[in-house]
Amino acid sequence: MPSGYGAEVPDLRATVTAARDALARVGVVGPDAEILAAHVLGTSLGELRMRMLRGAEIAPDDARALGALVARRGEREPLQHLTGEAHFRHVSLAVGPGVFTPRPETEVLVDHALALLAARRADAADAPSIVVDACAGSGAVAIAIATERPATQVHAVELSDDAIAWTRRNVDALAPSIRLVQGDVAELDALLPDVVGAVDVLVSNPPYVPAAAVPRDPEVRLHDPALALYSGDDGLDVVRALADVGLRMVRAGGGIALEHGEEQGGGVRAVLSAAGWHDAATHPDLTGRDRITTARR
Ligand SMILES: C[S@@+](CC[C@H](N)C(=O)[O-])C[C@H]1O[C@@H](n2cnc3c(N)ncnc32)[C@H](O)[C@@H]1O
Repeated sequence: MPSGYGAEVPDLRATVTAARDALARVGVVGPDAEILAAHVLGTSLGELRMRMLRGAEIAPDDARALGALVARRGEREPLQHLTGEAHFRHVSLAVGPGVFTPRPETEVLVDHALALLAARRADAADAPSIVVDACAGSGAVAIAIATERPATQVHAVELSDDAIAWTRRNVDALAPSIRLVQGDVAELDALLPDVVGAVDVLVSNPPYVPAAAVPRDPEVRLHDPALALYSGDDGLDVVRALADVGLRMVRAGGGIALEHGEEQGGGVRAVLSAAGWHDAATHPDLTGRDRITTARR
């Protein structure tokens, strides 16, 4: 990482600008330098920008800490691992090595799960709502739903020892009503026997990358866990498992919402329809790419 900032540059604005330029030279563009500076100073982005405009200085120790983080970001460590947090809908989740970093497109998956839940509630207004988040990772989806629909019973399932430590931490801090279970989602009915046939919505952002389609971005390839990414030759092994076990978990009229790759909509609809789901439909994410498929039981 080229130098150009540090103890000899006490001006905050010049230090952050040098950090931004250093990151741009290695292909990292965006607000990363500002976010890291705000993190080091323990302040918000808005306050950081105010301080920069006012011509504030930065203490040498803070400049050195920022330089170290910028160097790591330049080596393509995920920004969220450096700050220790990822923002998802209205919550801030703790993340780090061992857990998948939640993505903005998954916020749209939550919209579809909530829409299925609302449709289901119109049919069965007196029964309690039950949602299962299969493949919970940081807990992003489960926690968003539990906090946005507090009357809903949310169950979350995660297989990985490393990931579930983060799920547990986030659930305990943000939505302790969630029931978190460790295990393989192919065995959802054995893991959650008391809600078999009673689930209103099964939602999942499963691993879906085909085995040979190794992601280009180092942040993903080197820092997202392999178990979070890959799922057999065509990427749909976990989708097939969810389509099968989901039929036993979800009550008649309930729904399933799955995230997938932009080329996989047809494959996911075929898997769901072959398993016996109805009305399979694929929906775009915020950038217009087909990334979410829903169906009704
Ligand atoms: C793409 S990540 C999604 C995490 C989180 N739901 C999100 O959207 O940010 C997939 C998660 O599924 C977990 N996983 C993979 N295979 C699984 C399986 N068979 N059963 C349960 N969890 C699994 C991985 O460990 C990973 O945490």
